[in-house]
Amino acid sequence: MTHPLPIRRVHHIEMIAGNARLTAFFCRRALGMDLVAYRGPETGHPGAVSYYLVKEDLRLVVTSPLTHEDPRVFFLALHGDSIKDIAFEVEDLDGVSEVLEQRGATFVMKPRGVSDRYGTVRMASIKAFGDTAHTFVARGGYGGPFLPGFEPRHRPGYDSGLTGLDHFTINVEARALDRWVEFYSNILGFHPVEAWAGKEVQTDRTALHSQIVTSPDRRIRISINEPAAAVRRSQVQEFLDYHLMAGIQHLALATKDAVKTVTAMKENGLEFLPAPEGYYDQVADRIQACHLDREQLERLGILIDHDGKGCLLQAWTRPVTDRPTLFLEVIERRGAETFGGKSFRALFEAIENEQARRGNL
Ligand code: FE2
Repeated sequence: MTHPLPIRRVHHIEMIAGNARLTAFFCRRALGMDLVAYRGPETGHPGAVSYYLVKEDLRLVVTSPLTHEDPRVFFLALHGDSIKDIAFEVEDLDGVSEVLEQRGATFVMKPRGVSDRYGTVRMASIKAFGDTAHTFVARGGYGGPFLPGFEPRHRPGYDSGLTGLDHFTINVEARALDRWVEFYSNILGFHPVEAWAGKEVQTDRTALHSQIVTSPDRRIRISINEPAAAVRRSQVQEFLDYHLMAGIQHLALATKDAVKTVTAMKENGLEFLPAPEGYYDQVADRIQACHLDREQLERLGILIDHDGKGCLLQAWTRPVTDRPTLFLEVIERRGAETFGGKSFRALFEAIENEQARRGNL
């Protein structure tokens, strides 16, 4: 078995957006994240702007290129607003880079130090699925608000109770699932979750294959989907048609109170997928076992699962980008450790209804 890399945590997620200022406002106003730091022309970086937003253990940076010479302009043209990087924090950047090199990772940025008046951070990036990268960050004793070049800029969000990142989900091309499971196993030393090996999720209309990989401590969880043949176009294929290559389909945002968070986000203007017809009749026993209020769940579109260890509450937004690519999940774990396997089919039926509204089913 491949020895796991000593990854401490997800350091941050970077999204490339056509208008970072508006996306940062959306993250504050709709998601309840606080703006903490900024980098741009005013801080000595004329080519791009970046807004760094935080809510407890959830850290997101939104970047827009400002000139046509910036290669991220092509990223935007190909994919629309999309996530470009899931960055991991490590202690020994050079040691980790050496292991990555030995394991055959492709570097898009070789290890280097980046400095400003707060100190030096060492970073390296490797190519991941599609146009996405994994950056490794060693902060050492760096004292700045985020990364070098960023200056503090405090604007509070409209709190919705988010506490961190539970998992993220990648859509990859047909027949590419095994290759990406191998990438996370062989390069990062993550473990495939046995119970999900090659899991096929099928409704009457569409199908996909799915696999979950986690870091050995299970704190970093990645779900990977590929489209499978079926009567209609899979949601994964719809994503690929608009995103043009593999990419992040959704971020699952953790909360300790899904009812409170979804209520706040809806009040803040986010749209959530309604559950399919008849769903709450089918899960009446789960609602009872988890001591939940059916009317409340139904009003908010929260799906409910139970895995023997505890309950899982999940709700999914409509796409938050113009293209039907990126969406968000709100997830509350009450002891449950799985990924809502029983809710999958209901979720996919709900997404199919949305695909049909777009004329893409
Ligand atoms: Fe998810």
